[in-house]
Amino acid sequence: MKRTLFLISVVSVFAALLSAQDDAAYMTAMKTVNPAVRAVNPAITAKDNAAVAAAAKTLVDAFTTINAYWTAKKTDDAIGFSATAKAAASDLASATDSDAQTAALKKLQGTCQPCHAAHRGGMPPTFQIK
Ligand code: HEC
Repeated sequence: MKRTLFLISVVSVFAALLSAQDDAAYMTAMKTVNPAVRAVNPAITAKDNAAVAAAAKTLVDAFTTINAYWTAKKTDDAIGFSATAKAAASDLASATDSDAQTAALKKLQGTCQPCHAAHRGGMPPTFQIK
């Protein structure tokens, strides 16, 4: 009996540690999103496709991590927002004319607000996942 209780508590400590790690990875990924998004418009204006693609690559990586997080949590709306964001970032990475780049950026930016409204808790500067 004692042994069973001990095992149960070991397992739950590991589960808590794992989810704290996932949250940290999520937040690290999300912190890369804003600077990358901000880099895109000036790069489009400058017709610097390499810079657009580099920022887009950062965004694909971030939304891959973010999408995996919500997939593990089986949270349908957030899976959808992050999948759309990832697809838009991927379009942005391969787009070579400014119209296609601007369209992909707009699609990407359309995902921020609805997902934050549903799943971003806390107050700046300490946001939480809800
Ligand atoms: C799938 C849901 C989702 C999408 C899409 C999303 N976010 Fe977030 N975002 C969150 C959640 C949840 C948090 C709170 C946890 C955190 O801070 O990482 C957050 C936090 C943030 C933060 C605060 C990070 C910090 O702690 O300093 C910024 C900045 C941010 N998001 C920018 C963006 C931008 C810009 C976009 C769109 C290009 C975007 N997000 C798209 C869910 C999302």
